[in-house]
Amino acid sequence: MNTVFKWIGIGLGGVVLLLAVFLTALYVRGGSLMTEPVSLPSEAVAAAPADSAALAWGQHLVQTHACSHCHGAQLEGAILADAPPFLMVAPNLTPGQGGIGATYTDADWERAIRHGVGQSGRGLAIMPSDAFAYLDDRELAAMVAYLKTIPAVDHVLPPTSIRPLGRILAGAGQLSTIDGLIDHERAHQTAPPPGPTVAFGAYRAHLCKACHGQDLLGAPHPEPGAPYSPSLASVKGWTEAEFVAAMRTGTRPGGTALDDKYMPWSSLGHMTDEELRALYLYLQTLPDARPGESV
Ligand code: HEC
Ligand code: HEC
Repeated sequence: MNTVFKWIGIGLGGVVLLLAVFLTALYVRGGSLMTEPVSLPSEAVAAAPADSAALAWGQHLVQTHACSHCHGAQLEGAILADAPPFLMVAPNLTPGQGGIGATYTDADWERAIRHGVGQSGRGLAIMPSDAFAYLDDRELAAMVAYLKTIPAVDHVLPPTSIRPLGRILAGAGQLSTIDGLIDHERAHQTAPPPGPTVAFGAYRAHLCKACHGQDLLGAPHPEPGAPYSPSLASVKGWTEAEFVAAMRTGTRPGGTALDDKYMPWSSLGHMTDEELRALYLYLQTLPDARPGESV
């Protein structure tokens, strides 16, 4: 009997030891995946213009790209999640106390927005740069020009921290930084001339892909627990006025509401009539379903 218990004891001890080694390995791997510096191809960043038309366009783009959804109404920063795997903080973007604005260069802004890489060289988590990577140089420059003018707000926040559980999850591939989803080598898009055209709609629709999928035919939302981001082919059955109303008021033609927490219509809905018309025209060209899938 005793020997049996002894063997069970050794067996359990061995399992616990193996598990500890395994978790430590995941922890170490996850820690380096979440914090290792990202190397980017060097690229020239167009200097940000500062004329009033560019600033107004930049403000419009910052608004429609939902920066304030996470970084706060005045971009003063916010704690997004304080959970067992991580403390996730969208930093204060202003030049005020605790803000990054004062020390940020044009190149830093470009890398954070289009590549998902922070000033420290670390890949960013949650920050949806995969949806911003498409921005063409002129649009990006206008955004940066505007971001450099936002009023200072003093708001000191703790930095984002990936906790041991988060590191283990990252080591197991369940949590990652956003830079890995972006093709950094890809030549930046040149935006078609802005206007109510299918081409401009296709360009702007890149913004929708992080949630609705690369083909816009539906995808799981990046945030756990969020509703599925449905196929945008449904818009083919809507009138343009219905689409514009849904984007501006968050109410679908049937009367059901879109949850702004997961489908940020209160930001996207600030698009101009021209931008929404372009999107509407482009969405009309989507196939009803993926090849081989029935509707
Ligand atoms: C879905 C939420 C979300 C949205 C939308 C978002 N951000 Fe972020 N952003 C974050 C989070 C979270 C971080 C910090 C990530 C980290 O520390 O790993 C961050 C980090 C940053 C950083 C700091 C990089 C550094 O040096 O540490 C900048 C700059 C930034 N965001 C700008 C923007 C701009 C500009 C927009 C709009 C175009 C935007 N963000 C939209 C969540 C968001
Ligand atoms: C942050 C994720 C996210 C982004 C970005 C996003 N959506 Fe959505 N969208 C959703 C989710 C989630 C739903 C479902 C919401 C619900 O059921 O409350 C949705 C629903 C919709 C619907 C309703 C579809 C239907 O059949 O009822 C339309 C239309 C829509 N989105 C258009 C857009 C367009 C156009 C863009 C880009 C300009 C966009 N969305 C960007 C997440 C997103």
